[in-house]
Amino acid sequence: MKEHKKKLKLKVSAISEGTVIDHIPSENLFDVISILELDQTPNMITFGANLESDKLGKKAIIKVSNQFFENDEINKIALIAPHAKLNIIRDYEVIEKKEVTIPDRIVGIVKCFNPKCITNSEPITTSFSVISKEPVALKCKYCEKITHENQMVIK
Ligand code: CTP
Ligand code: ZN
Repeated sequence: MKEHKKKLKLKVSAISEGTVIDHIPSENLFDVISILELDQTPNMITFGANLESDKLGKKAIIKVSNQFFENDEINKIALIAPHAKLNIIRDYEVIEKKEVTIPDRIVGIVKCFNPKCITNSEPITTSFSVISKEPVALKCKYCEKITHENQMVIK
């Protein structure tokens, strides 16, 4: 095994069953935890942040034992962790690897950039159609204004 791989593997111990979400940008670790509602899970979670990564500079990793996500659920993190890799673990083995894709519609998660939008003054869940994925551009269902990737704020 290559030396750098050995180091990464040692940082957060292996799990027997569950999901490993790898290659999360470190600065978005806690938003990923909250989007996946992992702050409410009864399952064991281990995570590491600011781990060295060739691709991201610094990456974060989350390991959730005994939990497996639907594609719809996991794709919610694509906005803030577009290069996330999922590893499905059964009996200590990686049995499947998945990537995340940005969905065509985003409900909740992001704030509308338009300060006059009704979603910023009333308790209304935001809803956007994704009009571009690279870079991300979201069109608000309520005010029709566009929120661009560099303006995105997580709710
Ligand atoms: N992993 C784990 N528990 C296991 C098996 C794997 O936590 N029982 C974690 C590894 O630590 C790694 C990820 O799942 O972070 C993917 O495992 P593996 O495919 O063996 O590692 P790599 O070959 O490094 O994967 P990739 O290059 O696709 O990121
Ligand atoms: Zn709006």
